[in-house]
Amino acid sequence: MSVTNRLLKLDGILREHNEGEWGGGDENKYSAFNDAGLECETGEFMYAMARMLKPEHVLETGTHWGVGASYIGMALLDNGGGHLDTVEFIPEIYDIAKARINRLGLQSYVKCHLGDVAQFTPEATYKLILLDTEPQTRFAELVKFYEYLEPGGFVFIHDLHQHMHQIENSEHGFAWPFGPIPEQIKQWVKDGQLRPFHFETPRGLTGFYKVHPGDYKWR
Ligand SMILES: C[S@@+](CC[C@H](N)C(=O)[O-])C[C@H]1O[C@@H](n2cnc3c(N)ncnc32)[C@H](O)[C@@H]1O
Repeated sequence: MSVTNRLLKLDGILREHNEGEWGGGDENKYSAFNDAGLECETGEFMYAMARMLKPEHVLETGTHWGVGASYIGMALLDNGGGHLDTVEFIPEIYDIAKARINRLGLQSYVKCHLGDVAQFTPEATYKLILLDTEPQTRFAELVKFYEYLEPGGFVFIHDLHQHMHQIENSEHGFAWPFGPIPEQIKQWVKDGQLRPFHFETPRGLTGFYKVHPGDYKWR
């Protein structure tokens, strides 16, 4: 059974719905549980990443109602170990996510933190990070959490397309809604410390691989 179907079955409240323009057009190729959370397909991808990497620690910024946390938490459950730190600063939203994590029986694997990501100091390093607060704070989160990303680890920024939003927006101006890429990130990419890659889903997903000293040297 797919992890999405397991979540639907275990959590009596979740319902799948299509997200209009983010659902893949008229063909309804993509689905989601709500408009703010990860699409089911992206959730399944994060589940697979966590299954494959067997991380001891995972970080998610922006818990919302816990869709991403549910997918990653299910992977840690299936791995038989690992911990997800997920951070949300709106108490009512945090309560909803925490109740969902409890309903799914994932409380040993998922720690919901109430607070501002800008003030969050990790107590571990991470092999997998998902940045999913507000678009305009996600580049800064990559800079902040870079030192906590293990070599050979992956960080994903949700809603970020292959043009990195570094384009004119006739209504909102340049680089809306993420803002310009910080120089530090550009430098890491130019130096080969971070390798970006993109998934052209309707909502977008960009990943960065942090190189490992054991990686083959392409000269
Ligand atoms: C796009 S939603 C996250 C969706 C979630 N990852 C999921 O898959 O269900 C963004 C969430 O981040 C929270 N948020 C935004 N800025 C934040 C910050 N600086 N610190 C903590 N939470 C923040 C919002 O309140 C909102 O619930």
